[in-house]
Amino acid sequence: MRAQRLVCLCNQVTAQEILAILKAGALTTADVQAFTMAGTGCTRCVREIEALVLNFKSTQKKNPQLRIDFEDPKGK
Ligand code: FES
Repeated sequence: MRAQRLVCLCNQVTAQEILAILKAGALTTADVQAFTMAGTGCTRCVREIEALVLNFKSTQKKNPQLRIDFEDPKGK
């Protein structure tokens, strides 16, 4: 089993948790902060969160089939 890498020490948020929230549809660093509370304490980890968001976005551009789309197909 892969070890969990802690990104945010203040709120005990791991890189795996941040990636999970990005896969679930979070689009920005602010989204990650709102859903996980990562980066909302001392803010020392915000740059690493931003890097994870940017890296995830670039991965999605290269592999768009991995994108999870939660839009309502009926347009509601
Ligand atoms: S280490 Fe993330 S807010 Fe302090």
